[in-house]
Amino acid sequence: MNDGIDGVVRIFDTTLRDGEQAPGINLNTAEKLQIARQLAQLKVDVIEAGFPAASPGDLEAVKAIASEVKGSVVAGLARTRKGDIDAAWEAVRSAEHPRIHVFIATSDIHMEHKLKMSRQQVLDEVRNAVAYAKGFTDDVEFSAEDASRSDPAFLIQVFKVAAECGATTLNIPDTVGYAIPQEFAAFVKEIIDGVGTPPGVIWSVHCHNDLGLAVANSLAAVQSGVRQVEGTINGLGERAGNASLEEVIMALKTRKDRFGLSTNIDTTKLYSVSRLVSRLTGVAVPPNKAVVGDNAFSHEAGIHQHGILCNRATYEIMKPEDVGAPGTRLVLGKHSGHHAFRQRLEELGYSLSEEELRKAFAVFKELCDRKEVVTDGDLEALVVDEILGKTANHDYELRHFEVHVGSRGATATVTLWDGEQERYDAATGNGPINAAYSAIRRITGLSPELVSFRLQAVSEHSDALGEAVVVLKDGESTAQGRGASTDVIEASIKAYVNALNRLRHRAAQKEVVVR
Ligand code: KIV
Ligand code: ZN
Repeated sequence: MNDGIDGVVRIFDTTLRDGEQAPGINLNTAEKLQIARQLAQLKVDVIEAGFPAASPGDLEAVKAIASEVKGSVVAGLARTRKGDIDAAWEAVRSAEHPRIHVFIATSDIHMEHKLKMSRQQVLDEVRNAVAYAKGFTDDVEFSAEDASRSDPAFLIQVFKVAAECGATTLNIPDTVGYAIPQEFAAFVKEIIDGVGTPPGVIWSVHCHNDLGLAVANSLAAVQSGVRQVEGTINGLGERAGNASLEEVIMALKTRKDRFGLSTNIDTTKLYSVSRLVSRLTGVAVPPNKAVVGDNAFSHEAGIHQHGILCNRATYEIMKPEDVGAPGTRLVLGKHSGHHAFRQRLEELGYSLSEEELRKAFAVFKELCDRKEVVTDGDLEALVVDEILGKTANHDYELRHFEVHVGSRGATATVTLWDGEQERYDAATGNGPINAAYSAIRRITGLSPELVSFRLQAVSEHSDALGEAVVVLKDGESTAQGRGASTDVIEASIKAYVNALNRLRHRAAQKEVVVR
């Protein structure tokens, strides 16, 4: 895939790796597959599917993506340790185009305080790791973590070693989002000029958004000769996130006059991928978010509306249809058949198996008895919470609940299925949700900390589904759960139970701390 055509900027998506490292996000394999399928349809060049050495769950998910998803390169991240590289190869080897992505930090502060290695030791690690990875596959990417705060002369040495050992992509991360555009463009140019570009090698950047400059820095680097940009959908990621890929892609397309470059992306899929990622991760897209926010193509001011009616180009630099933003939203109801249901889900970016579709259709029909119209938001909540959100190790399930609310508080009785039998208990609380959560803690004997709780309507209709998103923490592990129902108390209980299951699933997988 490293074809060296320099008129094309490769898009490397790390939503499933760096994006998934964001606090509170934990996707199961079915959810990761769902996103990976959509990324392939979006035609991203590389999907970084995970960090296989981090946990058995990561390894399993990367393997599943590598085996199923075609078209894009599938990459697995690895530190310079042999064990990491072995795990990465095991995970991606079945991919149509596998890549091993090796990284080590190169800034003095990281080498001294985190790695406790000298420059020479880091150079040796790079040499050994890249050569070892190259023994498995031709497609090896090397990243110098915290490159933007590294000594340029040392960084040039590091990249030369990586290239000599066979790395085909050389990545310059701004790991802590410290760079500013002009300075970063000059820095990247200095590194590229110092190393040269060996035949078949592509330069890449990976920018974090701590100062809100990740997209600007990525574009500045492109102007210095970089031909791969790494980032995530909706800018998800550690701390303030990564470069928002939809923004990078649309900037390159909209300002082609300036960049003179293109991407392989089908931009009409951007909106649906953004929604899918938002739903599955539970991280809302702000309405004013560039490119994919709900208001990105709305015109409120009278003077703007007048201009738009005369000629859209007066106030629109991109067309909503360029990013697949919907003009009008379709609604489904009890007369809608299986075919319309399936088609709408596909338009929304979901590709379900026949079995999943059958289950989803049954839940949809139940919902139609409770609601007159089923909106896109309802459908998404239904698929995400009822179908994809259930993990294989889904040991607790809500069977029944009852709440009594009075002016002095509430009492709740909850019955859960624990995988083998029904168990119930009752508790009091200052409100019905609080009481129900206490009852669940009594049943399960688990008492994780409730980190956050959010309840929202998934569409603008008055009978909209309520969706609850709950984040629980137990020791070092956090997990997010979601639940949807026409009854907000039921949605809240389902979300709590879902988060509990995910937390237990995580603990069972004993994730390693990687940085
Ligand atoms: O931010 C970073 O430096 C990374 C590397 C692993 C590429 O995520
Ligand atoms: Zn990163």
